[in-house]
Amino acid sequence: MHDPDTPVRPLEFTRLDPDVMASHARELFERMRSRRSVRDFSTDPVPRALIEAALATAHTAPSGANRQPWHFVAVSDPTVKAAIREAAEAEEREFYEGGRAPDEWLEALAPLGTGPSKPHLTDAPWLVVVFKEVHGVAADGSKITNYYVNESVGIACGLFIAAVHWMGLATLTHTPQPMRFLNRILDRPTHERPYILFPVGFPAADCRVPAIAKKPLDDVVTWVG
Ligand SMILES: Cc1cc2nc3c(=O)[nH]c(=O)nc-3n(C[C@H](O)[C@H](O)[C@H](O)COP(=O)(O)O)c2cc1C
Repeated sequence: MHDPDTPVRPLEFTRLDPDVMASHARELFERMRSRRSVRDFSTDPVPRALIEAALATAHTAPSGANRQPWHFVAVSDPTVKAAIREAAEAEEREFYEGGRAPDEWLEALAPLGTGPSKPHLTDAPWLVVVFKEVHGVAADGSKITNYYVNESVGIACGLFIAAVHWMGLATLTHTPQPMRFLNRILDRPTHERPYILFPVGFPAADCRVPAIAKKPLDDVVTWVG
């Protein structure tokens, strides 16, 4: 089971009372079901410590062969945020108005009311840019293979979204395509690829969200046994 050369230690695990388990399950679901993608942010500041806590939570994620193939850049500098907005809006104009998006994709986005203007990129007090590391780099400069990079970084992002929501903040999973401009603006190496751009902050007082719903659970779950 374990490589005898790999040190192990006892798992820290407390078996909870069944009632406590049920109440934790309910509480988390009730909290998470109120999460929405927010596209209108207040400019109110958010302490750096909260962003750090959300990043620490994301960094607890499992990853293929424990490679932890992610890098997070947390931006609050208004000049850098403005540069990101300008570059993202140029890409989004190509997407929405320049013919880059297939009609079918534009039709799928129509109910969300999204478009090329991205004020959240300067309104939100923080932009957290998640990079996926397509390979690692050893001290001697040689490549280290990473495994299940997309799955690993996706799980870390899910934990980040949950942490942000749990602490009473809002975010948006933003993926302007292509996102290579983020390497240039944030001075990240080419073996890191932008994965998701998360504005984080409080929703604007007049924030509206699309009136959409999740599919019924029965449509997406099959029980066996
Ligand atoms: C991988 C991924 C990429 C997304 N990219 C964008 C995006 O670029 N812009 C945007 O406005 N919303 C984006 N979204 C948000 C989705 O539109 C949103 O999650 C979906 O409509 C469901 O709404 P909810 O998050 O409020 O439940 C993205 C979501 C995911 C998971």
